[in-house]
Amino acid sequence: MAKKTNQVPEADRHQINSSSKVKVILFVSLVIFLLLITLVYVIWIVYSNQSSKAKPWHVEFKELNCSFEPYERQECSSLLQANFPSNEDRICALNDYDLDNTVCGYYCKHTGYDSGQCTKDSTSCNCTLDNCFDTQFRDNVTNKCTQKPVFTLAKHESTVLSLLELENGNLASSSADFMIYIWNITEGSLKKTLKGHEYEVVSMVSLSSNALISGSRDRTIRIWDLEKESQAKKMTYTDEILCLTLLNNGELASGSLDKAITIWNISNGSVVRSLNGHKDMVLTMTLLSTGDLVSGSADSQILIWNSETGELKSKLEVTYNWILSLVVLNDGRLVSGSSDQVIRIWDLENGKLNKTLVGHDHSVRALTTFANGNLASGSQDSHILIWDTKQGSIVKNLTGHTETICSLLGLRNGNLASGSADTLIKLWNLNL
Ligand SMILES: *[C@@H]1O[C@H](CO)[C@@H](O)[C@H](O)[C@H]1NC(C)=O
Ligand SMILES: *[C@@H]1O[C@H](CO)[C@@H](O)[C@H](O)[C@H]1NC(C)=O
Ligand SMILES: *[C@@H]1O[C@H](CO)[C@@H](O)[C@H](O)[C@H]1NC(C)=O
Ligand SMILES: *[C@@H]1O[C@H](CO)[C@@H](O)[C@H](O)[C@H]1NC(C)=O
Ligand SMILES: *[C@@H]1O[C@H](CO)[C@@H](O)[C@H](O)[C@H]1NC(C)=O
Ligand SMILES: *[C@@H]1O[C@H](CO)[C@@H](O)[C@H](O)[C@H]1NC(C)=O
Ligand SMILES: *[C@@H]1O[C@H](CO)[C@@H](O)[C@H](O)[C@H]1NC(C)=O
Ligand SMILES: *[C@@H]1O[C@H](CO)[C@@H](O)[C@H](O)[C@H]1NC(C)=O
Repeated sequence: MAKKTNQVPEADRHQINSSSKVKVILFVSLVIFLLLITLVYVIWIVYSNQSSKAKPWHVEFKELNCSFEPYERQECSSLLQANFPSNEDRICALNDYDLDNTVCGYYCKHTGYDSGQCTKDSTSCNCTLDNCFDTQFRDNVTNKCTQKPVFTLAKHESTVLSLLELENGNLASSSADFMIYIWNITEGSLKKTLKGHEYEVVSMVSLSSNALISGSRDRTIRIWDLEKESQAKKMTYTDEILCLTLLNNGELASGSLDKAITIWNISNGSVVRSLNGHKDMVLTMTLLSTGDLVSGSADSQILIWNSETGELKSKLEVTYNWILSLVVLNDGRLVSGSSDQVIRIWDLENGKLNKTLVGHDHSVRALTTFANGNLASGSQDSHILIWDTKQGSIVKNLTGHTETICSLLGLRNGNLASGSADTLIKLWNLNL
């Protein structure tokens, strides 16, 4: 009996054998199954890469870089609303690629693109959005690539304070990390490094195809030889330089912490004259088509100077504000951005306020203009808004930077470069 109980019966032994066989078979099938899945996945990846390369819009619309990159889904709001006061045909007014008024598109956080169905009436349009695709979007109607490629140039270690487009199309950037970098923005590659400043480099102007001038809070203005990638000249001031503008006669104006504007002869490096009138630091300057110099200060004032005689010609005042940025539109109107979050457009003929642009949630730190009359503004709210300055309406809202926008530059090709306290420079394709 005991023997019998210890002995595994024939049938049981068979069962054990067969159950271990089943285990082996299961294991092997699982392995094969996994291998198959991997294979299918690999084939799918290879195939989808190939098919994306083969798609016609890559051939037809070469100027846009639509090469596939892994999708990156971003959080995006599910409902966007846009008004189109003037042109209803511009569906959603967010991007004007749509033809049959059924598809809407919108740029989302970090260069992303979103699309969805549109409901509209005569004054507004709502887009219900599903996903954000970071790199590519294909328009079903035109079979045209509608991606706006965006480069991000990452190298600076602190706030990007000024941007300058050089004659050859390269971009210069200066930063609170004391450095100036020169980039080829077609390639997105770093070309040159100008090193020497000992504090934040706040402003740059172009002197010639081979030279740029930089001003720094290290109390110096330096002229750089771009070919030799070295400093050619240094002018020292008694206080921190906060902004620079080149005058029509070749002289240089600098605005500084000591409330003064200083006019320099850059060939012999000496001070020609000093313009005194501001009651606080001079933060920004620009030149009018008449050659007059406009300066903005933390004293709430915008002063207009005859820079050759030093005569103070007129004064615009925005109470209790820092004037942080000034630019001139191509129709001659002056634009100021200030700490009260408002952008003001001034009519210089009568010294009156022409328009007030409200949209930012924090100080307006940077402004730039485009040949088509549009304006870009950058704010401490980390957003960039593109404005139609005739209508006073927002054309685009570029989000992607995570901190204050400190510099903006409208490029000759109609695109935009932005520099931020998040240390990044972003290039936005606005020519869709
Ligand atoms: C297009 O973008 C991809 C990925 O960003 C890059 O590898 C490629 O060099 C770009 N091509 C051109 C022509 O810019
Ligand atoms: C868009 O959405 C807003 C707010 O939800 C609503 O008031 C408006 O009627 C909608 N417009 C259309 C055309 O659907
Ligand atoms: C484009 O067409 C595809 C396939 O018909 C569809 O899945 C997709 O939702 C369409 N996209 C848009 C934005 O309408
Ligand atoms: C920038 O790069 C592009 C593409 O490689 C090249 O064609 C162009 O000449 C470069 N620009 C400069 C100023 O070197
Ligand atoms: C600067 O000074 C040089 C030499 O003193 C003079 O020849 C030149 O005309 C001056 N430049 C300007 C813009 O006044
Ligand atoms: C520099 O040039 C200015 C004229 O722009 C002249 O008045 C001044 O004396 C010159 N200074 C030196 C040191 O040569
Ligand atoms: C603003 O400027 C535009 C163009 O110069 C002019 O047509 C318009 O009447 C001005 N508006 C005000 C309120 O001054
Ligand atoms: C721009 O977009 C950001 C992020 O979606 C939003 O917080 C901000 O209110 C928008 N600004 C305007 C004026 O639409």
